[in-house]
Amino acid sequence: MTEQHNDVRLHAVQADITTLRVDAIVNAANSSLLGGGGVDGAIHRAAGPELVHECRLLEGCKTGDAKATKAYRLPAKCIIHTVGPLWRGGGNDEAALLASCYRRAIGIAAARGLASIAFPAISTGIYGYPLALAAGTAVATVRDALLTAPSLREVLFCCFSADDLAHYQALLEP
Ligand code: APR
Repeated sequence: MTEQHNDVRLHAVQADITTLRVDAIVNAANSSLLGGGGVDGAIHRAAGPELVHECRLLEGCKTGDAKATKAYRLPAKCIIHTVGPLWRGGGNDEAALLASCYRRAIGIAAARGLASIAFPAISTGIYGYPLALAAGTAVATVRDALLTAPSLREVLFCCFSADDLAHYQALLEP
């Protein structure tokens, strides 16, 4: 399922995000930026030990914000680390904070003139955000943010499970 949106290709794939050969992969990090489990752990393991040294210099990241580093041993050109909201039932600005993660990551990609970016399903693992709600926010926010990112030609929603993939594909026009 691929959607052409302002001649930007939006599509969902099932893959390990550390294998994707795109300009930027997005990491669902925590506010320390010093690594963790889930996709954060996978990215740090695949990128190698130099990544955490660069992350240490960034002095953390607020929820909803994003910061970029080199990608080291990954095929991607850079990593955009963002901190999603912990799901606490939906009444604590979770949707706005999650949208901010996608918007800020696209803003960094645009500032760097990047052509392609891959997102994991931010906050839907350890942080417990319901996938269906998160995917809706992700796709809507990305579509809107693309208007301010003329260099972008491709956005991949990188799903780790077939079920997650089905949710994203249902949201992306055939
Ligand atoms: N490639 C793509 N997606 C992955 C990968 C991978 N290698 N590994 C996990 N995922 C998926 C999960 O299945 C989930 O759909 O990434 C999504 C986000 O899940 P988490 O990695 O648990 O991230 P999140 O829910 O945002 O929680 C962030 O977890 O790892 C810690 O340090 C991180 O404290 C932070 C918290």
